[in-house]
Amino acid sequence: MIDFQQVLEKEQTLDPQNWEEMKDLAHQMVEDMFAYLQNIRSEPVWRKPSQSSKDSFTKSLPEKGEDIAQIYQDFKENILPFNKGNVHPRFWSWVQGTGSPFAMMAEMLAAGMNPNVTIGDHSAMYVEQQVINWCKQMLGYPNEASGILLSGGSMANITALVIARNAFDRKNIRQKGLKMMPSQLVMYASAETHSCMQKAAEVCGIGSEAVRQVRVNDDFQMDIVHLKELIAEDRKNGFAPFCIIGNVGTVNTGAIDPLDAILEVCQTENLWFHVDGAFGALAKLVPEYQVALRAIESADSVAFDLHKWMYMPYEVGCLLVKDKEIHRNAFALQPSYLLSHERGMAAGPDPITNYGMELSRGFKSLKVWMSFKEHGIEKFSSLIKQNIAQAFYLESLIKQEPLLELLAPVTMNIVCFRFNPKNLAESELFALNKEILMRLHEDGLAAPSYAILHGKYAIRMANTNHRSQKSDFDVLVRDVVRLGLSMR
Ligand SMILES: Cc1ncc(COP(=O)(O)O)c(C=O)c1O
Repeated sequence: MIDFQQVLEKEQTLDPQNWEEMKDLAHQMVEDMFAYLQNIRSEPVWRKPSQSSKDSFTKSLPEKGEDIAQIYQDFKENILPFNKGNVHPRFWSWVQGTGSPFAMMAEMLAAGMNPNVTIGDHSAMYVEQQVINWCKQMLGYPNEASGILLSGGSMANITALVIARNAFDRKNIRQKGLKMMPSQLVMYASAETHSCMQKAAEVCGIGSEAVRQVRVNDDFQMDIVHLKELIAEDRKNGFAPFCIIGNVGTVNTGAIDPLDAILEVCQTENLWFHVDGAFGALAKLVPEYQVALRAIESADSVAFDLHKWMYMPYEVGCLLVKDKEIHRNAFALQPSYLLSHERGMAAGPDPITNYGMELSRGFKSLKVWMSFKEHGIEKFSSLIKQNIAQAFYLESLIKQEPLLELLAPVTMNIVCFRFNPKNLAESELFALNKEILMRLHEDGLAAPSYAILHGKYAIRMANTNHRSQKSDFDVLVRDVVRLGLSMR
């Protein structure tokens, strides 16, 4: 039995006993993180975590508190030096944004305020609404559309798929489950679609076999003739097509699917048009890409990440849905403990939990709101354009260098290439280029990643980095050639 009297005589809190001491340390942390970001260019892109660093994470659960200065020292010795590297100007792996100093500070403010941004009449709810409205504006998406911020592209895509599935034929899936479907639901996505879409189909009970893989052309774009054939075949065999995914920036090569043609098929076949624009959708801010990406404005839903090509610190993705009611119908649920009130703190905007799976949510909109205000959208548009120009610059360097071979067309910010001295078998080229990549990482020189294209190992540069400069791509080419020659 708890001795209540004893406990209540010694009430405690997590607030510091010595506020001044913590404040001094906090100032030091700010100093250190600013110095870290300011000097990041002179650091290796990546360092392998040392044995002593890894060992430091095997200690058992702390029973008693430790000195905060010592904990911070531990961070500086064992955590910070072995960072992933996506803050570095020569990091171009997978598709990962860089973050920014002001947004970093916004994260601190958000954590300090610590609102649970799901329900109620408080400022964070309105900040999120404004950010969603700004996102619609950025993509030219209708004003009446709904939207939600999520942890990233994977969550935005699965949320879209749930909405598309539930909207199909208005069959009361929420109450009755998938058994209400007249037949097996099927959806269509190009063979180059990100794996999160398959996971989403699996989690939604649609099943990965129901994700029809549409062939791609030589430019890695969806083959519309094949798409139409698959739909016709499925209809003939009694399946229930419900959704087509259009990619704006495939993960391997950055290809843009023929969006206008997909939109037309969706309209004729009465299918949901979802755009996975995880990074590429934001190229719509660049005037030269406006026409190619115009069909996004007519999509039923579009998923994209602000932590990729908007350079926000992790995590923040966004889903926009054209029909607010359909979106809401997929998730709205109001138990007694979540009833909105007319007045008081439980009033306010429609609860955000009515538009997604999560109930508790952090204040991820603050960093977006503050960054948009700090720079203005024109700056982001210029940076995206800059990343594209740098990718085309890298392409030109590769074309000039006889020892390098381009492995995919460059459409936006991704360049896939390999070292090819022309006297090696395919299997040797595969192993050699993989080795070059690992050496680039281990030597801390540059961090592109990889793609396997038609069985060929490509060194893949994906540029969502506002710190990269033209000269960084000279370094990349120089080092790939130097390493390749040294290993041949
Ligand atoms: C095209 C595409 N879709 C979806 C995703 C998944 O996004 P996230 O990593 O934010 O979950 C990615 C990630 O790189 C991507 O490139």
